[in-house]
Amino acid sequence: SGAIAYIRQHKAHGLGHAVWCARRLLDPKEPFAVILPDDVIAAEKPCLQQMVEAYEELGGNGSMVAAMEVPADKVSSYGVLDVDKDMGSTVSAKGMVEKPAPGTEPSNLAVIGRYILDPSVMKNLHTMKTGAGGEIQLTDAIADEIGTERGVYGYRFEGQRFDCGSKAGFLQATISFGLSRDDLRDELQTFLDELSAERAAAQ
Ligand code: G1P
Repeated sequence: SGAIAYIRQHKAHGLGHAVWCARRLLDPKEPFAVILPDDVIAAEKPCLQQMVEAYEELGGNGSMVAAMEVPADKVSSYGVLDVDKDMGSTVSAKGMVEKPAPGTEPSNLAVIGRYILDPSVMKNLHTMKTGAGGEIQLTDAIADEIGTERGVYGYRFEGQRFDCGSKAGFLQATISFGLSRDDLRDELQTFLDELSAERAAAQ
């Protein structure tokens, strides 16, 4: 069981500002997690749990972001990691940039919406510095940790990620989750088969 509290961000000042709005709910000495609900991840072990385990293995120190390689033409829609050491599933970052202009991206390793953040990230957000798109960016507040004794890590999670911020991604997630459920699979599969047969016949 747990308690749920809601905080409203009254103005659209960016993701960093939205996270900052929740500052009074947090223990200033403990790391905290951020989940962006439009990034839906299907995984045997939940993505954030995978990250908690990897974070503990690193000594429970610093900040960690979920990461995934994305196609070259999509990189500029994401926060992007500049990789220092690549240790396989975990990488250390020597830089991190929000929505780099096409051609300037340091890698194609993109940040996905799961974070374990050192409380100092919240302090960095206090500066209210604006970045990409004129917004207060969470990416920038995390990047400010690079070069401190705490460090920033990317974690290549196991699982399938759906970008539910797009209509197509939302529909794909709905179908995929439906097909993975025992109580829905058969009916949904039959519907999809009939639909594609009808479409093929109409061509
Ligand atoms: C946000 C973050 C970005 C991250 C992305 C993941 O961007 O600012 O760093 O890569 O989520 O979905 P948004 O999708 O809100 O533009």
